Amino acid sequence: MSEQRRIEVVHGVNLDQLGRRDESHYGTLTLPALELAIAEAAGRLGLSAAFFHTNHEGELVEHLHRLRDVDGLVLNPGAWTHYSYALRDALELTGLPAVEVHLSDVDAREPFRGVSVIADLCVARIAGEGVRGYERALAILAQRMAPRGAEVPG
Ligand code: DQA
Repeated sequence: MSEQRRIEVVHGVNLDQLGRRDESHYGTLTLPALELAIAEAAGRLGLSAAFFHTNHEGELVEHLHRLRDVDGLVLNPGAWTHYSYALRDALELTGLPAVEVHLSDVDAREPFRGVSVIADLCVARIAGEGVRGYERALAILAQRMAPRGAEVPG
């Protein structure tokens, strides 16, 4: 019998403050509301989603080290995206297919936000689409994956 593919959705620094951040960039959803919308989108795609948030870079790194039984990652690392080589190295260690997502259109904002130290490790980078961006990220991962237990024997 095949099992659902498991996606880990990781939010980094300051994303727990959604709902009180600049609405013009981030909209009005709180992090719990955003996670609920992502969980529903995952369900529609036949995936299961688990969530992690931290404001501490070392905790994020250790969380990535500890991941087991996960098939793909959706990552919005917040400002760490732009400079955290520690995050980059930990992401590389996971060996997992990952999609980088930003709620805001980072390329149309301050130049430092256009820099991503993880983009080349990710299968896609989506920015400026709000919640829809997460749905697209899940769809990209779903398309790459057969259901667990349905792998063609090699
Ligand atoms: C963000 C964009 C980053 O530049 C910023 O530091 C964030 C959120 C986004 O979702 O648009 O905290 O990742």
